[in-house]
Amino acid sequence: MNTLYSFSQFKYLLLSLLLLLISTSSSSASAYIFSDGEISSRNDLFREILRDEAVARLNELGKVSDADGYLERTFMSPASLRAGNLIRGWMEDAGLRTWVDQLGNLRGRVEGMNASAEALLIGSHLDTVVDAGIFDGSLGIISALSALKVLNVNGTMGRLRRPIEVIAFSDEEGVRFHSTFLGSAALAGVLPVTALQISDKSGVTVQDALKENSLEITEENLLQLKYDPGSVWGYVEVHIEQGPVLEWLGFPLGVVKGIAGQTRLKVTVRGSQGHAGTVPMSMRQDPMAAAAELIVLLESVCKNPKDFLSYDGHCNDISLESLSSSLVCTVGEISTWPSASNVIPGQVTFTVDLRAIDDMGREAVIYELSNQMYKICERRSVSCIIDRKHDANAVVCDSELSSQLKSAAYSALKKMASDIQDETPALMSGAGHDAMAMSHLTKVGMLFVRCRGGISHSPAEHVLDEDVWAAGLAILAFLETQL
Ligand code: GLV
Ligand code: MN
Ligand code: MN
Repeated sequence: MNTLYSFSQFKYLLLSLLLLLISTSSSSASAYIFSDGEISSRNDLFREILRDEAVARLNELGKVSDADGYLERTFMSPASLRAGNLIRGWMEDAGLRTWVDQLGNLRGRVEGMNASAEALLIGSHLDTVVDAGIFDGSLGIISALSALKVLNVNGTMGRLRRPIEVIAFSDEEGVRFHSTFLGSAALAGVLPVTALQISDKSGVTVQDALKENSLEITEENLLQLKYDPGSVWGYVEVHIEQGPVLEWLGFPLGVVKGIAGQTRLKVTVRGSQGHAGTVPMSMRQDPMAAAAELIVLLESVCKNPKDFLSYDGHCNDISLESLSSSLVCTVGEISTWPSASNVIPGQVTFTVDLRAIDDMGREAVIYELSNQMYKICERRSVSCIIDRKHDANAVVCDSELSSQLKSAAYSALKKMASDIQDETPALMSGAGHDAMAMSHLTKVGMLFVRCRGGISHSPAEHVLDEDVWAAGLAILAFLETQL
């Protein structure tokens, strides 16, 4: 979608703005787009590393793809391995000791002055969606490495009070196995052993995919992958916003207050396969037409949850209000069998991605939606199976970490243009992040970076070079609090 602001985005903007008015005391929405003239010439801006090299690396990584002509890197794919090798070199260039763990996460660590102190973990994911942009995931990894490289170059890395570990997670998008956070959930100790047996479209399991790359994962070493919570101080992630709020406010960086919960479903509708020319309309059990009705139902429920949930009281008023402003549902993938123009399909399968800030409300929607879906399938004499593939509860970011990130962002922007007056905005994330899985292990904090038009999961995704720089400076300022 190329239009900058569609009607639905406009509604989202108004909503987000309302949330922001509650959460920040920004006095005005002045536009922070820095020109060279405005950026001071101080030598603590590390332009070559934090901007020029970081942008060059983002572009280089953005070319590492399994597909010709668009970006795609899924869990353990050849391009993911090539991307891992590239990032590993950059980790070593930043002075980190590196290794790949049994879930395919690439890890780089520096011990600092006290190897047994609780470690600060900083990460994001190296996998992508299909036809992806180059910043989602990569920006978080590269900005952390650039900031650490600055500490290495200016000789302060050895003064870090605690170990710092950068993690390039192997799977956040869940494209290949429909189960997101494989890498981060394993490190947080919340990946069930059954996840190792999930199959991709070709019948390859998670365990097989790792084994093909000489990574042996067993029940026992999955347990061992979990960090000892006592060895970890916190987790921080830098990520593009993937929405339009920061651009709307004219602010390069924002702090994340919390992340919406999410559920992924796989719906399989089976009917009676037949000849498109001979079976009368009244005698069909067509799973395609049924799937269409189910998808339209989903849209109605998610647009107007109050109409579907209020009447029998399985959702309280707070949940209903929160659902009305945050519930979003998407059918992003659909497949039919046998998929030929002159055949009434025998089977249609589609995915549902459903997100909301309120976990109880999300449960209520799934309950009501499933009931109504089964009724439609019964009326149409098709069978319907709804599989819950993935669930992640909403997360609240740690207030102390958030205020440290907020100060770091402020000091970065102040260095770039000394007249910064507004407070760094705080916003909610509708997108999922590895921080969700890591929140089961430790306190989490996130910094968002403005992206053009709020567009993400698209090749049109874009972050200004100056904003990549601002992100690097902010994470550097945050790391300096650990010296
Ligand atoms: C990850 O990008 C997600 O929110 O799906
Ligand atoms: Mn993504
Ligand atoms: Mn992401």
